[in-house]
Amino acid sequence: MDKMQASGFIGNLPQVASQIDLVTPKELGTYALLSSILHTALIQRTPMKKHYTWITISLLTTLFLGGGGLVYVDWRDTTEIPPPAAPAPNTTSSEAITPIPLNHSLDARKVALGARLFNDTVLSADDTVSCAHCHNLATGGVDRLTHSRGISGKEGNINAPTVFNSGFNFRQFWNGRAETLEEQVDGPLHNPLEMAGSWPQAMEKLSTDTQYVAAFKAIYRDGIQAHNVKDAIATFERSLITPNSRFDQFLRGDQAVLNHEEQAGFLLFKQIGCTSCHQGINIGGNMYQQLGIMEDYFAVRGNVTEADMGRYNVTKLEQDKHFFKVPSLRNIAVTPPYLHDGSAKTLEDAVRIMARFQLGKELTPAEMSRVVAFLHTLTGEYLGKPLL
Ligand code: HEC
Ligand code: HEC
Repeated sequence: MDKMQASGFIGNLPQVASQIDLVTPKELGTYALLSSILHTALIQRTPMKKHYTWITISLLTTLFLGGGGLVYVDWRDTTEIPPPAAPAPNTTSSEAITPIPLNHSLDARKVALGARLFNDTVLSADDTVSCAHCHNLATGGVDRLTHSRGISGKEGNINAPTVFNSGFNFRQFWNGRAETLEEQVDGPLHNPLEMAGSWPQAMEKLSTDTQYVAAFKAIYRDGIQAHNVKDAIATFERSLITPNSRFDQFLRGDQAVLNHEEQAGFLLFKQIGCTSCHQGINIGGNMYQQLGIMEDYFAVRGNVTEADMGRYNVTKLEQDKHFFKVPSLRNIAVTPPYLHDGSAKTLEDAVRIMARFQLGKELTPAEMSRVVAFLHTLTGEYLGKPLL
């Protein structure tokens, strides 16, 4: 293992499942040193000590076998390895974060039909609530409320994530209960606090609209059907990509696009371990993690609700309590408030909570402003215009 591999290895913890290296006795001194540094770094850096067990065995087999070497073994629990993030074209970077492709090749007719459905109140029980009601594309794909408000102004129990780039997430919802964007649509449609609708009712209403009848017929052989509504909406959502953030331009090789403060922020973001969870094309969205690894977040905040149980509500496994899908940090500057409970009003609040409860660290004011400056570079463009 050379130095390049070693640093890539530290930067990409979750992508590495196992690694074994043999080293000749000649290089023993160097590698024994490197191995111990690596070992210390891994143990200190990984905040995922509850899930990953690192075993480093440095066997000086030379002593016994007269010609062996140094064996370095790293092992982790492979039960929930996130899928690799979708490869982005035109990437020149070797970072754990990859840029969003500049274009997509989705069926334009489906995107247009999905957009109309997304903005239409027809899917709600009383024709008052559309998807866009809570996922306003003009405000970062969110409603900027602590908890969303659905039909008759009823308050939900969790903060709305953005729909921008949701197609890059490995699962949908904070607790990952929907496998796909198609499956996700069932949630808000039926939720009594959101659209309180039903498929038979929605089908009936859509069938009275001649424009919808024609649009569905043109794309789908079986016309207006629940699975086609889901397909169109999901296709539209997959089109909601926000490429060309300043950070993505930086990743593509334009170093000058980020100022010193922002670059220092990115470095710090990696150095203190944020990338062990926020990584991949969506800078998040590819694994579940516990909120409160280093300290009990919920004991400090108080008033624990059912929604706070996170992934436990899906699996009923004790070990999944307070586990959430690591959210994407793309466009994070335009989607306040933060966290599943909407309790962090500003980016500073969210970063302070992350540093303390996920990493057991307190950032200095200078470090805080660097990380926040970096997070501001993650705002991308939708249809060629920067998100606001
Ligand atoms: C009343 C507000 C409201 C409405 C209406 C609404 N949503 Fe949501 N949406 C939310 C909230 C809140 C969540 C998070 C729920 C959770 O994770 O348990 C969410 C989650 C999502 C997610 C998951 C994103 C992620 O990163 O996990 C997607 C995708 C989404 N909604 C799309 C839609 C679509 C499509 C519609 C219309 C069919 C819709 N929403 C209607 C509030 C709403
Ligand atoms: C151990 C994994 C882990 C580490 C390390 C981590 N995060 Fe997070 N992050 C999460 C999870 C999980 C959430 C969602 C928590 C919740 O709301 O339940 C989150 C949420 C966030 C949010 C709010 C996102 C939103 O849409 O509400 C921000 C901002 C954030 N993290 C930034 C950071 C920064 C900056 C660092 C480094 C200082 C960091 N995170 C380190 C797992 C992690």
